[in-house]
Amino acid sequence: MSLLIRNGRIVTAVDDYHADIFVEDETVSLIGRDLDVEADRTIDAAGRLVIPGGVDPHTHMDMPFGGTTSADDFETGTRAAAFGGTTTIVDFAIQTKGHSTLEGLETWHEKAAGKAGIDYGFHMIVTDMEDDRLWEMRRLADEGVTSYKMFMAYPGVLYVDDGTLFRAMRKAGEDGTLVCMHAENGIVIDEIVKIALAEGKTAPKYHALTRPTRMEAEGVHRSIAIAEVAGVPVYIVHLSCADALEQVTLARDRGAQVFAETCPQYLFLDLSHYDHEDFEGAKYVMTPPLREKWNQEHLWRGLGFGDLQSISTDHCPFCFKDQKVLGVDDFSKIPNGGPGVENRMSLVYNGGVVGGRLSVNKFVELTSTAAAKLFGLFPKKGTIAVGSDADIVVFNPDRRETISVDNPCTHHMNVDYNAYEGTEVQGVSEIVISRGRVVVEDNNWHGRAGGGNFLKRGLFGGPF
Ligand code: URP
Ligand code: ZN
Ligand code: ZN
Repeated sequence: MSLLIRNGRIVTAVDDYHADIFVEDETVSLIGRDLDVEADRTIDAAGRLVIPGGVDPHTHMDMPFGGTTSADDFETGTRAAAFGGTTTIVDFAIQTKGHSTLEGLETWHEKAAGKAGIDYGFHMIVTDMEDDRLWEMRRLADEGVTSYKMFMAYPGVLYVDDGTLFRAMRKAGEDGTLVCMHAENGIVIDEIVKIALAEGKTAPKYHALTRPTRMEAEGVHRSIAIAEVAGVPVYIVHLSCADALEQVTLARDRGAQVFAETCPQYLFLDLSHYDHEDFEGAKYVMTPPLREKWNQEHLWRGLGFGDLQSISTDHCPFCFKDQKVLGVDDFSKIPNGGPGVENRMSLVYNGGVVGGRLSVNKFVELTSTAAAKLFGLFPKKGTIAVGSDADIVVFNPDRRETISVDNPCTHHMNVDYNAYEGTEVQGVSEIVISRGRVVVEDNNWHGRAGGGNFLKRGLFGGPF
């Protein structure tokens, strides 16, 4: 099967030019002006950007959490991702405490195989790591799982102590793998939560008010300090606020190998969303919580100046009616997480490029290339080049859509609300190609459950 994409404006993290792209089977095989080739199918991309498929390095499909399971499984979640222009996700397998991480990996392979419609990899959530099991980390890397997530939050659930963190970091450094940190002081936060509940403060907004930015900043500072002593790089996930960003900037300025992502919810939504009537604020209960609006400009600056490298979604949807309601009398029982995998590319293009905050190259870097590089997928993923996987999005930079759970062009996620309801965006992914196959066109799904491959990722490539 061959595909010719003609007349498009090809934009990567570094290039911006008009040319044709010839795809043979799953791979880009030729790029040039007015290519003289025969193809099984030709797509006219005149007036469109032709960009690498999005790489979302932080999703939670089919994840048991907060007494329930995230509402998108690997089939519905990856399909929704594709509709939004994302062709690769890196999701999280979970180790059950006291059990092997390899068992956890097996469980997640079973969840994803035969279901994922786009390519996917796994990080491993490590919940304990004694000396006698450290060898597993190398085994995971051999299996293509070259990064781990560890939590300073959620005591009694996913939390690990600093000793475990240090042990795992040192081993990751030896192996050339990368630790991703959920950086929040969960021990102190749990005390604040107890006080709030004792005072009868049970509404969703107290989720945010019991998780001060200082406790995120403290977690960021501490995890970076531990990584520096261990002599390893560290990647901070879902960074939400200026307070935490300052710690990243200070550390990078002194030469620490710190990388960090933020998410659309912290760029476009804010604390006022918890004031919605009738428990609606529960839709925005996620961790870290939404912050005061003024933080957003700091995050945009961090993205523009390179202290934040990537924009992931932390897509972890729970239905409002059946799942968020678990915490109707107690905010601490609301399942933590929100939807977004489908809307990331349009939101970031609109807020970043149309909003005059990011160049179009930076948009590609933040939504695709940087994550591919950090997580051992580049140059197979994250760029358009001869030899790369043909994961390509034909993106209409002028088309406008209003994001809504009721708009069939913006919502395919298996969740009964959209966190960005009513937001008008300019910039829409119109044709989405995953390893040479058109999977989305004219807002129709042409992919298939099981069409996505598991990606064995390479080792951490160092600073770039
Ligand atoms: O609220 C969130 N972020 N839920 C998903 C789990 C995590 O901490 O990333
Ligand atoms: Zn987290
Ligand atoms: Zn997450």
